[in-house]
Amino acid sequence: MSDTFSPYGNNEVSNVKSRIRIPHLQQMKVRGQKWAMLTAYDMYTATIFEEAGIPVLLVGDSASNNVYGYESTLPVTVDELIPLVRAVTRSTRRPLVIADLPFGSYQASAEQCFHTAVRFMKEGGAHAVKIEGDVEMLPQVEKLTRSGIPVMAHIGFTPQAEHQLGGYRVQGRGDNAQRLIESARAFETAGAFALLIEMVPAEVAARITAAVSIPTVGIGAGNGCDAQVLVWQDMAGLRTGPLPRFVKQYADMRGVLLGAARDFTGDVQAGDFPGTEHSF
Ligand code: KIV
Repeated sequence: MSDTFSPYGNNEVSNVKSRIRIPHLQQMKVRGQKWAMLTAYDMYTATIFEEAGIPVLLVGDSASNNVYGYESTLPVTVDELIPLVRAVTRSTRRPLVIADLPFGSYQASAEQCFHTAVRFMKEGGAHAVKIEGDVEMLPQVEKLTRSGIPVMAHIGFTPQAEHQLGGYRVQGRGDNAQRLIESARAFETAGAFALLIEMVPAEVAARITAAVSIPTVGIGAGNGCDAQVLVWQDMAGLRTGPLPRFVKQYADMRGVLLGAARDFTGDVQAGDFPGTEHSF
């Protein structure tokens, strides 16, 4: 690991040439240095987020809704996700790229999980994978870790289990808080390099963050996590309709694209495009 590594601040981030690796994330936790993670599914967003200094990119199964137009994360397949992972890893040099294993591709057994993860590493070039679930996923985490595949465990609300959980509901309330903290510790012991904590009371996520020595990445889990993640289309305002409470929109990408597309069609209809400067 380079001594000059500086994930944030003074724009030094743009001078860091080497790939972000798991020990860097560990160092940031020790230093109390917070970091941001975004989803990315294609070359342009991946390179923009790399330039912005985002150290970790997630090729999420949220591509199901946000790229492929499915209703939930459940339908997307391994074969649909691998090309997106490949696009992100091929077009970036610095961020750690995590591939989400889709529903049905890892729950059956540790062996199934291993074979799916290997495809994402070999064919997609992923540097790590993420799986959702509770303690029933510990054998999967142990198998991947023993096989040299870094794994992030996604706990709390796990969208792939939305039907089992009765919809999008905050997890870890009341008596369930202690159980969630124990699950988090068990994932650390099993070898997970990080935890993604979704839709959990802020106070519970902060207790988990204090209870484990691996980084926690929150989404709808308050400000006490080591890192925060958002789906990029939510963060940048491409998505329409009601937003989850945990989303903050930092731009109006939909408005910008809509305006550009309307201007373009208007110019074409008026015969103003292409002009002589665009013609040979
Ligand atoms: O697939 C995804 O986008 C996720 C989010 C919780 C970040 O897992």
